[in-house]
Amino acid sequence: MKSRIIGTGSYLPEHIRTNYDLEKMVDTSHDWIVARTGIEERRIAADSQCTSDLATIAAQRALDMAGVAADDIDLIIMGTITGDYPWPATACVVQANLGANKAFAYDVSAACSGFLFALSSANDFLMSGRGKRALVIGAEIFSRAIDWTDRNTCVLFGDGAGAVLLEAQEGDSGVLSCHLHSDGKYLELLYQPGFGSRNPASIEGIEAKLPFLKMQGNEVFKVAVRSLTQVSKEALTANGYTSADVAQFIPHQANLRILEATTKRLGLTKEQSFINVHKYGNTSGATIPIALDEAYHQGLLKEGDLILSAAFGGGFTWASTLIRW
Ligand SMILES: CC(C)(COP(=O)(O)OP(=O)(O)OC[C@H]1O[C@@H](n2cnc3c(N)ncnc32)[C@H](O)[C@@H]1OP(=O)(O)O)[C@@H](O)C(=O)NCCC(=O)NCCS
Repeated sequence: MKSRIIGTGSYLPEHIRTNYDLEKMVDTSHDWIVARTGIEERRIAADSQCTSDLATIAAQRALDMAGVAADDIDLIIMGTITGDYPWPATACVVQANLGANKAFAYDVSAACSGFLFALSSANDFLMSGRGKRALVIGAEIFSRAIDWTDRNTCVLFGDGAGAVLLEAQEGDSGVLSCHLHSDGKYLELLYQPGFGSRNPASIEGIEAKLPFLKMQGNEVFKVAVRSLTQVSKEALTANGYTSADVAQFIPHQANLRILEATTKRLGLTKEQSFINVHKYGNTSGATIPIALDEAYHQGLLKEGDLILSAAFGGGFTWASTLIRW
């Protein structure tokens, strides 16, 4: 038995914020942002939308593609760090929105690696027989966790959602392996200081901008390239493959320079690597399922293809999966 992806879906909010829009908000330039990150524009959710709204549309599209009714899902796991509420899980809101009445639902907090951590958990449930179909979602409204006066961070992120529907099936196609890693000693290089039990909600905390992302970009950059390369090689080695066997590499879309450095170290060609960071920026836990959906609809994922995916994010967390499409 393997967990096979039988549906993909994504949703990007309609509003586009370009680098030229950012030039009017902070001291930056389109050329600087493109040279350092490859990002040209990102999507921003409407004020009326919350993360579950984006996730529900992406999830419904994955169900529609597979022709599966919401009632036939056994579990919903969602990677997000910008959910509707601190608790309960946004996956529960999506479960209610979809009418997935028999599914249990919870969120995974692994920052930009959230989708692959969620996929790994869903795969384990299906492979142990605790369900036949699992919806795995990555969704974020990162624009609400960003200080829009901080040019070091605000140019990098965007909003969006993606989802895949997994079904336990006999055969050779599906998830071949998942590898997960964490290292909490790097926490303060990339995190949101407030508001939790460490820094509970307070007026002083708001004035100190604690509910916004804090990052030491160049330190994150170095560890990200190293970790993405290591965990991608780990996936290939564990399954007896090399980079030459990979049809598509679908990495977390953080930054074009991170992606180029990683693909170079892995010996992958441009044709093997899927990139859409120029259109959406870093949508954190949503980048990989959005990319999977786009790559599928562009005809880049064909039956039997070997698909490698890897992610890196706050925690630090990093992960990979190898999929026979
Ligand atoms: C954030 C990042 C693009 C910055 O690029 P960098 O080459 O490391 O740049 P630095 O942070 O060293 O800053 C260089 C200069 O550019 C300036 N700068 C920073 N952001 C700027 C912006 N948006 N526009 C113009 N100048 C900017 C800095 O203030 C600094 O100026 P100084 O030399 O006068 O002090 C880069 O570090 C990066 O991509 N890091 C990884 C971030 C990431 O992907 N995080 C999520 C991982 S999941």
